[in-house]
Amino acid sequence: MRNFFSIAALAALASHAVAQTSTTCNPLTNSSCPADSALGTEHLWWFNETLDSTIWDMTDGAIDYTTEGAEFTLKTNGSSLLLKSNFYIFFGVVESWVKMAKGAGIISSVVLESDDLDEIDWEWVGYNTSEVQTDFFGKGNTTTYDRGANYYVENADTEFHNYTTYWDQDRLEWWVDGDLVRTVNYSEALTVYGRNYPQTPCQVEVGIWASGEEGESAGTIEWGGGLVDWDDAPFTMVVQKIRVHDFHTGKEYKYGNESGDWQSIEVISGNSTTVTELNKTPPETLAEKWAKLGEAAHIGIYVSAGVVGAAAIGAFAFWCIRQRRKGRLENALDDTRYNDQLAESENFQNDWKMSEWRNSGYRQVS
Ligand SMILES: *[C@@H]1O[C@H](CO)[C@@H](O)[C@H](O)[C@H]1NC(C)=O
Ligand SMILES: *[C@@H]1O[C@H](CO)[C@@H](O)[C@H](O)[C@H]1NC(C)=O
Ligand SMILES: *[C@@H]1O[C@H](CO)[C@@H](O)[C@H](O)[C@H]1NC(C)=O
Ligand SMILES: *[C@@H]1O[C@H](CO)[C@@H](O)[C@H](O)[C@H]1NC(C)=O
Ligand SMILES: *[C@@H]1O[C@H](CO)[C@@H](O)[C@H](O)[C@H]1NC(C)=O
Ligand SMILES: *[C@@H]1O[C@H](CO)[C@@H](O)[C@H](O)[C@H]1NC(C)=O
Ligand SMILES: *[C@@H]1O[C@H](CO)[C@@H](O)[C@H](O)[C@H]1NC(C)=O
Ligand SMILES: *[C@@H]1O[C@H](CO)[C@@H](O)[C@H](O)[C@H]1NC(C)=O
Ligand SMILES: *[C@@H]1O[C@H](CO)[C@@H](O)[C@H](O)[C@H]1NC(C)=O
Repeated sequence: MRNFFSIAALAALASHAVAQTSTTCNPLTNSSCPADSALGTEHLWWFNETLDSTIWDMTDGAIDYTTEGAEFTLKTNGSSLLLKSNFYIFFGVVESWVKMAKGAGIISSVVLESDDLDEIDWEWVGYNTSEVQTDFFGKGNTTTYDRGANYYVENADTEFHNYTTYWDQDRLEWWVDGDLVRTVNYSEALTVYGRNYPQTPCQVEVGIWASGEEGESAGTIEWGGGLVDWDDAPFTMVVQKIRVHDFHTGKEYKYGNESGDWQSIEVISGNSTTVTELNKTPPETLAEKWAKLGEAAHIGIYVSAGVVGAAAIGAFAFWCIRQRRKGRLENALDDTRYNDQLAESENFQNDWKMSEWRNSGYRQVS
């Protein structure tokens, strides 16, 4: 499949990226920054269902949920949308299924970003719907923009593709639909690119913004394919699902010193708040409460409610039964989902085994 990918380093098109990236507390200049809350597990989130706001934070704008996934839509100039995970991963895998937004000057992105501004990017530039761009930054070093590379993807705006980032202390990989398109080695990022290897705990960030707006730098506007034509709005990126696997298990990640080296990151053990949230049993529904009351209580309620209330209570009971059926259906679906996840992780393992670096000794830290 080598011909499939046109590997072309992006020319130094000046300052783009980092438009949606920032940090609230940089541990390299402030030793009192709070520790990062870990993911500490692996999980698949479907984006056709409302995301748990204790796990995912919509820091800018609002997404629309459809049966297909979450829509990130830009309707007017000066707007942007950004979703951030409240959890961090300290090396791991992020698999995102995305349809990019089409339109010159519109940027769709899935980014890993750390508190000291290490960054790993997937970016889709709206004027070319046959391409995805990859990039990375270390410690917010933007003296050069020469680390980007782009790849051919068919119908990136109308079909979901599997964009997977694999990241550990030795290497960084970008995969498209099961094909390894790019590898960056730790040593290469230290020598060729300076000290630019991303190596600190990262949040997952999904966003859409306009590079083609008055006020952006000439380089940014050029990179994005010119100014946005807002008459063509809305511009929509769709995310179907995202699977995230944190290579460490623990509660929190703490910067041990101000080096920003992965060796300095302390893994604080315990259950992460995200794991606790994921394991939380959903609150009891009305249907379950009704079921628990038992037959005698049901009759008692009917009788005491009398004739007038009976119809309403009958409807309520009917609704409860339907909810319970639905609950069973949901459980069955969950099993299917679990099996899907098993199959997926097996596929991934096979891919890893087949890739070159697997033979050169992949180690997973823990
Ligand atoms: C360092 O971080 C702490 C905790 O977020 C904050 O309260 C403090 O203002 C920060 N100090 C500086 C100099 O930014
Ligand atoms: C979301 O998609 C998954 C997988 O297709 C499906 O199992 C689930 O029922 C969907 N959820 C909703 C609310 O449609
Ligand atoms: C949006 O575009 C209009 C017309 O060009 C302009 O007047 C306005 O300042 C822009 N708003 C923002 C927030 O950029
Ligand atoms: C879109 O990107 C692909 C892959 O990099 C490239 O082959 C193609 O020429 C680009 N098309 C346009 C219109 O720039
Ligand atoms: C990365 O390192 C491995 C060995 O550790 C080597 O085989 C491979 O060629 C390197 N890749 C690059 C792009 O330097
Ligand atoms: C920033 O990156 C450039 C090249 O990409 C490199 O030459 C420089 O040494 C880096 N700066 C630091 C402080 O690491
Ligand atoms: C930071 O911590 C690491 C791991 O403990 C240590 O190897 C390194 O020397 C420290 N660096 C500095 C600048 O203190
Ligand atoms: C983590 O959760 C498990 C299961 O809920 C519990 O048994 C264990 O004590 C918890 N560990 C800590 C350190 O809280
Ligand atoms: C997505 O791609 C990754 C990397 O090749 C692979 O491991 C994973 O199984 C793929 N996901 C699905 C659902 O096929």
